Amino acid sequence: MLTLLPQIFFQPTKKFIDWANNLNLTIVDCGAGMGHLSKCLDNVICIDMIPREGRDPCVLDMDALEFEHFGEKCVALLARPCHGDWVQQVFRKALDKGSRVFYAGLPRNYDMDLDGCEVEKLMSDVGEEGEELWEIKRV
Ligand SMILES: C[S@@+](CC[C@H](N)C(=O)[O-])C[C@H]1O[C@@H](n2cnc3c(N)ncnc32)[C@H](O)[C@@H]1O
Repeated sequence: MLTLLPQIFFQPTKKFIDWANNLNLTIVDCGAGMGHLSKCLDNVICIDMIPREGRDPCVLDMDALEFEHFGEKCVALLARPCHGDWVQQVFRKALDKGSRVFYAGLPRNYDMDLDGCEVEKLMSDVGEEGEELWEIKRV
């Protein structure tokens, strides 16, 4: 079975962590990788469909598209997702269930990940590599 090497892409800044912990929403980290956000966010569910060496045991081994508990008390977060159809499919599913949807990424990836989406920029510098946080309003 495929197992990915340990690697962290989105390293959140303190500014993002403090802001996210004040939302009073459950953050569903879709494509959570190592599950490292579980160490800094108070209320988070981590999901990733491909095992990764050294990942936190809290990570649910599942396709984010199979997650059935999106709702008004949740925000779906896609942080530095690997690109592909699944990204906008998760946006759509979470929005349809009444969740807010956030995307944390690098400007060079917006064309691939956000094409055709209605978005609103929420914050700059949410990650150590200069990631920005966008809210997806419509897909
Ligand atoms: C570039 S990595 C980013 C991981 C993590 N967010 C980070 O910043 O370190 C993208 C992750 O998305 C996961 N992924 C891809 N498709 C997925 C899906 N349909 N459901 C859940 N996870 C998925 C991959 O296994 C991979 O770990």
